[in-house]
Order: sequence, then structure tokens, then C-alpha cells
Amino acid sequence: MKASEEPVILKLGGSVITDKGADEGVIREAELLRIAREVSGYGGKMIVVHGAGSFGHTYAKKYGLDRQFDLEGSVVTHESVKKLAAMVVGALNRFGIRAVAVHPMGCTVCKNGRIESMYMENIKLMLEKGFVPVLHGDVVMDSELGTCILSGDQIVPYLAKELGVTRLGLGSAEDGVLDRDGKPVPVITPGNFEEFRGCIGASGSTDVTGGMLGKVRELLELSKTSCITSYIFNAGKADNVHRFLHGDPIGTRISPDKGN
Ligand SMILES: Nc1ncnc2c1ncn2[C@@H]1O[C@H](COP(=O)(O)OP(=O)(O)O)[C@@H](O)[C@H]1O
Ligand SMILES: [Mg+2]
Repeated sequence: MKASEEPVILKLGGSVITDKGADEGVIREAELLRIAREVSGYGGKMIVVHGAGSFGHTYAKKYGLDRQFDLEGSVVTHESVKKLAAMVVGALNRFGIRAVAVHPMGCTVCKNGRIESMYMENIKLMLEKGFVPVLHGDVVMDSELGTCILSGDQIVPYLAKELGVTRLGLGSAEDGVLDRDGKPVPVITPGNFEEFRGCIGASGSTDVTGGMLGKVRELLELSKTSCITSYIFNAGKADNVHRFLHGDPIGTRISPDKGN
């Protein structure tokens, strides 16, 4: 693929598009519509991955899906995140973005919680034809565990590698990875990670997949094995999604080295 045709990957955190404090799935509709409008200003190829927020984590927690196999709990959780995906896809289409849902449960197999394989042919063809594939955090089949919770934060680097994407961003609810004083760290590299490790933690709300530390670990690993630079930024602030999509360096950059 030529550089200009490379897709961008945008993750919308569940903490932005849902009310993560709720004990059932609750959408933040105004936020979703604002973001859909910002996304619609971008004309290039794009994949959207969204978190499960209160549509996933609450049920995953209730049924203990992060610890055990539960047939009913898996279905309840999957059905719930599918509803959220339909809302995200609906909002994007309302603003003229030809988005289609690709549910990870239907195309992914994990082993001990890590992606072993994901069917990519449909996603590649969708991108070629101008669709915007929308994936999301989901319950998926796991060859060892029965099922597992697959975080959007793991899907993003997997897709980036498979598709040769060089620009990806995780939009969450903070201004980036915050240091001890609550200020966003400009750049995290494998070299300086230990310096900040102590102040990066799990989610402040119900999230069974690792919160901010999970994101940083996934993106650092990606930067080590592929030289891809990624950004963690605040998608809860107006215009940030637009800025990220148009190439502004924003939030915290996760890079193989400081100069990249
Ligand atoms: N150093 C840090 N900087 C920013 N957020 C942090 C940090 N340590 C822990 N967190 C928590 O991680 C959360 C982001 O993770 P998460 O709730 O999983 O977001 P998302 O819904 O976008 O996946 C933040 O809202 C915050 O509560
Ligand atoms: Mg999360």
C-alpha cells in the first residue's frame, strides 16, 4: 500500500462513549455523535475499534468471565457489546461514514487471552472499497480457556501489524499517560518506561482488561517489534479526534525511541 492509502486506526475508549460507572450498558450519545462528526471530516481509509465500556465490563465482571468459562455470561456479554457496536456504526453512518461492524467473536481465536488468529480478508477488502470496519472489545473463543475477554487495546496493535498501519491512536478519557503530577508524559519509549511504570495503573472504573497500564504495555510491545508510533490522547475533549486523524502529535506518544 502507498503511504497515502495506508489506513489509520482509531480506538474510541469505552470510558468516552459509554458511562463506565453504570451497572448496565449506558451510552453517552452526545459524545458519540460529536466524535462521529469529527471522524466524518477525515477522508482517508480508516478502521475504528471501540471499547466495551459499561456494555461489556459490567457483565464480564458479573459472570467472572476474566476468571472462568461461563456459557450464559459469554452470550449476555457478547449480545450487549453488539448493541453498542450497532450504536457506534449507526452514529458513523448518520454522518456519512460507511461503517460496518466486524464482531471479533465471529472472526478471532485466542490462546490464553492472546490473539492466535483473526480472519483479515474481509477487513482488507472493506478498506479497499471504502468501508470503515468497526471492531470492538468482545468475548471470543479461546483454545485453552473456552472463551476470553479480548480488549480493543489488543485488537488495535494486532490490526496495525497485519495491515502495515503506521498511524494509530487510542482515544481515552485522560490527556494521555499522566505522570505523578497529573501531567501527560510527552513520550514513552522502551528506554524510559520504568521511570513512569510506578504511576501507570488500572482503570479507575470497572474494566477487566488492564486500564492505562494495559494500553501502554500493548503499544510498547508493538513499537519494539514493528517501529510503529502510536498516541494515547483524550477523545473526551472536543476536536482531539479530528486533530489526531489529521496528523497532529497529540497526548502521549509511544515510540521505539525518543526521536521518532
Ligand atoms: N498514569 C495514568 N494516566 C492516565 N490514566 C491512568 C493512569 N493510571 C491509571 N489510569 C486509569 O486508566 C484509565 C484509562 O483506562 P480505561 O478505563 O481502561 O480506558 P478505556 O475505557 O479508554 O479503555 C484512566 O481513566 C484512569 O482511570
Ligand atoms: Mg479499557
